[in-house]
Amino acid sequence: MFFHPKDLKLSGKKIVITAGPTREKIDPVRYITNHSSGKMGYAIAAEAARTGAKVVLISGPVSITAPVGVELIQVESAEDMYQAVMKEYSDANIVIKTAAVADYRPKNSYDHKVKKQDGDESMELERTTDILMELGKNKKKQILIGFAAETDHVAEYAQKKLLKKNADMIVANNVKTAGAGFGTDTNIVTLFKRDGSVIELPLLSKNEVAVKILNVASQLLGNEMK
Ligand code: CTP
Ligand code: CA
Repeated sequence: MFFHPKDLKLSGKKIVITAGPTREKIDPVRYITNHSSGKMGYAIAAEAARTGAKVVLISGPVSITAPVGVELIQVESAEDMYQAVMKEYSDANIVIKTAAVADYRPKNSYDHKVKKQDGDESMELERTTDILMELGKNKKKQILIGFAAETDHVAEYAQKKLLKKNADMIVANNVKTAGAGFGTDTNIVTLFKRDGSVIELPLLSKNEVAVKILNVASQLLGNEMK
């Protein structure tokens, strides 16, 4: 059974949502990024605001506007996002990590445009911080929800991420499925919960998916507080 956002008893709670891609600078004209319109995270923020909760939306560069009633913190790189999330974490009740964080950044970045040269076939990269994993390591009472955008073995990879990152739920989708890809207004997701239960949702609007996720988050919060 699913409730309308305003009936979720989340008023007075703090919900932190990350959304959009991150941008890892190479030089002033080039960067590394991921596909992400930000629509899923912004839909969660909009529905979360309707619950009466305090909503903090930490967003990478996107072309959509933040919902009314939401505190927007704009960031660019994975490192910026990590710092912003950690600042909001200690008193957060629910954290939903929708962002498509870049996994790698250039080892060196430059403030001038780097010129192409014969023989420079490759670029050195290094891993960014896995924000969700850090949140999982430092989890106290927070409910932690991650996403997994996959192209194959969706359930297997989602379950692995759930455990590895110490999350309470992973929202997984197959980005190759029509209606569940990037930039669409719809999504087809499966919710993998820590207790082993799996909730397969049909094709829904991103706002409807957001309401389902908030319902489960609210249940998890209630169960934790008992
Ligand atoms: N995530 C994160 N910080 C990163 C990478 C990912 O917080 N540096 C979070 C995402 O926001 C998402 C979850 O981890 O909630 C899963 O992201 P995903 O890219 O699917 O998984 P990865 O662990 O990065 O593994 P891979 O990309 O190899 O599938
Ligand atoms: Ca990744």
